Amino acid sequence: MFQTAALSGSKAEQYAELATQARGLLAGERDRTANAANLGALVFHALPDLNWVGFYFYDGHELVVGPFQGHPACVRIALGRGVCGTAAQTRQTQRVADVDAFPGHIPCDSASRSELVVPLYEGDALVGVFDLDSPILDRFDAEDQRGLEILAALFLESLR
Ligand code: SME
Repeated sequence: MFQTAALSGSKAEQYAELATQARGLLAGERDRTANAANLGALVFHALPDLNWVGFYFYDGHELVVGPFQGHPACVRIALGRGVCGTAAQTRQTQRVADVDAFPGHIPCDSASRSELVVPLYEGDALVGVFDLDSPILDRFDAEDQRGLEILAALFLESLR
């Protein structure tokens, strides 16, 4: 059984530990659904103050919801729409301190107050996005963004 240890130390140390756990969890498996499901579950249970963690995958036309933890979510998101579609289209992580102030934010869980979405690209090919929601305003800082971008990169690496 995969063992997760409680995170401790500075935030940077906690993300380094989480990355080590993610490497172990994804090692030797290339299945996208399996790795997305396990990585999402790891992050959801390791980090505080999250109400939704999961993936949307690009089907060649739009984003379609993949494995996640949290309440049921909107299934399809067009590129350029909402926080997820904006991350996918701009190729930039979207760190949204207040979702109500984000034009076009798509509310899936009414508890969500802030959101971070990392775009997943393999070279020029859009794979999808890694999406995290929090019930706390301004939950994600630059250090969270860095740590979660590293986890997203580990996910992409695991598929190669
Ligand atoms: N809020 C997202 C939609 C996905 S949910 O948060 C799970 C958006 O605006 O794209």
